[in-house]
Amino acid sequence: MLYCPPFLSIYKNHLLSVNMLNFKQILENEETLDPQNWAEMRQIGHQMIDDMMDYLQNIAQKPVWQPIPNAVKQTLKQPLPQQAEPLNDIYNSFKTNILPYPKGNIHPRFWSWVQGTGTPFAMLAEMLAAGMNSNVAIGEHSAMYVEQQIIEWCKQLLHYPSSASGLLLSGASMANITALIVARNAHEGTNVRKEGLPTASKMVLYASAETHSCIQRAAEVIGIGSNGVRKVNVDEQYKLDITHLKQLITADKAAGLTPFCVVGNAGTVNTGAIDPLTDIAKVCKTENLWFHVDGAFGALAKLVPEYQAELQAIEQADSIAFDLHKWLYMPYEVACVLIKNAQHHRNAFALQPSYLLSHERGLAAGPDPFGNYGMELSRGFKALKVWMSLKEHGSEKFARLIRQNIAQAFYLADLITHQPYLELVAPVTLNIVCFRFNPPNIQLSPDELNELNKEILMCLHEQGLSAPSSTILNNKYVIRMANVNHRSRKSDFEALVQDTLSLGLALLNKKQA
Ligand SMILES: Cc1ncc(COP(=O)(O)O)c(C=O)c1O
Repeated sequence: MLYCPPFLSIYKNHLLSVNMLNFKQILENEETLDPQNWAEMRQIGHQMIDDMMDYLQNIAQKPVWQPIPNAVKQTLKQPLPQQAEPLNDIYNSFKTNILPYPKGNIHPRFWSWVQGTGTPFAMLAEMLAAGMNSNVAIGEHSAMYVEQQIIEWCKQLLHYPSSASGLLLSGASMANITALIVARNAHEGTNVRKEGLPTASKMVLYASAETHSCIQRAAEVIGIGSNGVRKVNVDEQYKLDITHLKQLITADKAAGLTPFCVVGNAGTVNTGAIDPLTDIAKVCKTENLWFHVDGAFGALAKLVPEYQAELQAIEQADSIAFDLHKWLYMPYEVACVLIKNAQHHRNAFALQPSYLLSHERGLAAGPDPFGNYGMELSRGFKALKVWMSLKEHGSEKFARLIRQNIAQAFYLADLITHQPYLELVAPVTLNIVCFRFNPPNIQLSPDELNELNKEILMCLHEQGLSAPSSTILNNKYVIRMANVNHRSRKSDFEALVQDTLSLGLALLNKKQA
């Protein structure tokens, strides 16, 4: 044992010598944020779990969504609390003013945007992760290895090479931008980190006109600019037109620009279209371009036998971004980016400041810090819920649920096509159905039809019946059902059709009265 000098008394003298008597008093009355009454905390914790389990178990009996009364909104415009409130009062206020007004994506009839459902066990995993409060940036601790494990499992799910690197992120937007940063730097060399983007070479990336807006935002943020994003035409199935892609690349090269990347969609946000990924991979190979796949939800359809061939080219991609909070049903937030060339990935982000040195032993040892693979340094323990959930169900069950969601989408499409008052507006190829109320023999202008469908959608929401969302396809306002919901049943889609019809007819009658 080494001899330790009596530093406490030195410290005491030091405090006195700098006249910090007030601070000395503080040290004699130290506080903590831990409960004074652990039994009370434990009891309220158990109550919360019981309440949440009841809530989730009975969620189908509740409205999908309900408006937030103004009085409730006022309770969320209060002055900053300066003093402690009793735990029970705080929890009761949550139960009265917050819990009854969720977005609804826990409900079996929620199909807005593309938003996953979450699961009870993953909710508990989130609680455990918050309890451990691990910052998964650097160091020798279990959370680092759990995240490494999840990245390995993500590669295995997609049959992506085991030599690839990866990172968990908050969502596909962040996963996409991370991949595009690597693509940009891999093309420009490491100098871009030092010098910024060279003005002489104007970099261009290509993505179908149906691509999610996060790709344009990423291009704007990383210095490519929206002018550097070519929106490639789509065919009648909303898939990227490969001939147009080739024409654009040729024209840009002739104009002295620098094509560097093509983004292919494994499931577009509007209609779920899968771009011709194999053809895109070939173009990228011939033209020496980075092939990135935005598979925010659709990448995981690769687990479904019927989609394996169409999505196989994901394995050829230089990078792939996908969400686990969409089609792996994880609670928010968690997404993954995989980069085939791990060195390119590391080269794009790694830095070694003196305060983040990795050591051979002790807490500062451990795997290569995740901060070397992305923008974030402090990072939560997102991996735990994925680790526990994949063990809870096994990947085969997730594959079956994804397949079930696709089957349900086709079922809804079938119901719509057999309903003369409803119109399927886009082909259904995955889990998204775009349709509208369009009564035959009643003359409505395009604007009136759009207004009528918007009104139907708002009524569906306000009456708590179901929550699809909307989009515009070829100037037509459509009701859009995107299914990444493990709680939905056949009867929920039948109800959506019935409610849309009833509301459409009622609104039409009102208009004509
Ligand atoms: C195809 C596609 N890409 C990207 C995103 C963005 O994902 P996130 O909301 O997780 O950032 C979405 C979201 O729905 C999407 O559908």
